[in-house]
Amino acid sequence: MDSEYLTMPLKYIPFETLANYEFYIQTDGQYSLYRSHDVELKISDYNRLKKIGVKYIYFSIACKEEYHRLMETALPFIVKDPDMSDERKAEFLYSSSLAVSENLIATPDSEENIKRSENLAKSTVKLILNCKSSFAMLMNMCCNDFYTATHSVNVTILLISVARHVGIRDEEVLGNIGLGGMLQDVGMTYLPPEIIEKRGNLNDEEMEIFKQHVVYTYKHLNKIGVYNAVAVDVATMHHECLDGSGYPRGLKNNQMSLTGKIASVVNMYVSMNTVQLDRKEQSTIQEIIEYFHNHKRKYDQNIVDILEEVVTLKDTHEEDSEGGDLYHYDHEIYDDRLFSSESQRLYKRRNFRKMLEVRTISRKPGQKPELGHPGKYIVYDGSVSGAALLCPTRLAIGSELCISFPVIGSSKFQNIIGKVVRCERQEAGLFAIGVSFYVTQNKQFFEMLKQF
Ligand SMILES: [Fe+2]
Repeated sequence: MDSEYLTMPLKYIPFETLANYEFYIQTDGQYSLYRSHDVELKISDYNRLKKIGVKYIYFSIACKEEYHRLMETALPFIVKDPDMSDERKAEFLYSSSLAVSENLIATPDSEENIKRSENLAKSTVKLILNCKSSFAMLMNMCCNDFYTATHSVNVTILLISVARHVGIRDEEVLGNIGLGGMLQDVGMTYLPPEIIEKRGNLNDEEMEIFKQHVVYTYKHLNKIGVYNAVAVDVATMHHECLDGSGYPRGLKNNQMSLTGKIASVVNMYVSMNTVQLDRKEQSTIQEIIEYFHNHKRKYDQNIVDILEEVVTLKDTHEEDSEGGDLYHYDHEIYDDRLFSSESQRLYKRRNFRKMLEVRTISRKPGQKPELGHPGKYIVYDGSVSGAALLCPTRLAIGSELCISFPVIGSSKFQNIIGKVVRCERQEAGLFAIGVSFYVTQNKQFFEMLKQF
């Protein structure tokens, strides 16, 4: 984008809104003022612009605050625009995200800035899910500087993409993961400037003060009313490590949620991939991946593998919205006794794959957990972090399930324990259940299932 002028697609700015702004158009590479503040914009002028094929109008850089607010209202439409290139969409999204992130740091208490961050995170999810090359475009745009604003935006983009490849599909959950990324370092605004601005390494005492930024972030989220568990986990666990050596709480593997583990890996990646004040060059992707492999006890290696695929853009698996994940099972099994012909039609349409044995787990204080009677459920989607299945009865959110997956080469079954995170009534009296595994599985396991 030109440094003096900010580009805006005309079709997403209604006349009534545009009538309040001064803007330029471009002819033969030159910018000319089309409407100044002291001249009224008529509807006929607006329509004429559209009629002669003007797609973009321009705002002076001096009006960048107004421009970014307008752009944010247009972004939800822009990311879905089939006529606009992914590169242009990514440009608009990245520059808006930076503007909002900078505002958030300048005025962290502003409710409006929280709402703007939330909307930006949603648009980022939409763009990454809907435009195949958008992630590569966004990654190319990431500025590798040390500023908190750019760090948070880069983290947000990568978080959403890694989370999606780990198997998280729900757009609302992905949006909250993005929001957590945008807000994770808002606590930095509470630290003394001499800590934030210090060049070179912090001494031990300064480091202890620095670590408090996560505590401040947590308090701040409470203060501004961000209680969503996913967003809070991402924001408060981004410096934790599986072996308890992270901060501020020193959580261990089983105390960290899946989204917290993703945040920890992504935050470290973005930090190492950043030009620091005291370093000449940032680490290469391979150096960072090697670092992760050398610290297996600190970082979830399944997430690291997925991060590597994402940042090296190796991933070519583009799934349809109904499933079709990387780790699908290939066999189709019908069970006439359990499912009606109507549900078989549904089964076929959604390309379901596998009938597996599932048992509920009940826990009573002071007693061993008990397994319920086994039921046969259709599992139609699976990833390293969870599975989607159909069952004939409603299951409570938060209830625990044990799914028996076949182990290849023997008659044994591998039990995977997870928690119900979604239960929606479907056609034919079935319920679609989303299960989040307690422990992420490796990709080889799902590859093996294909052979079964
Ligand atoms: Fe941080």
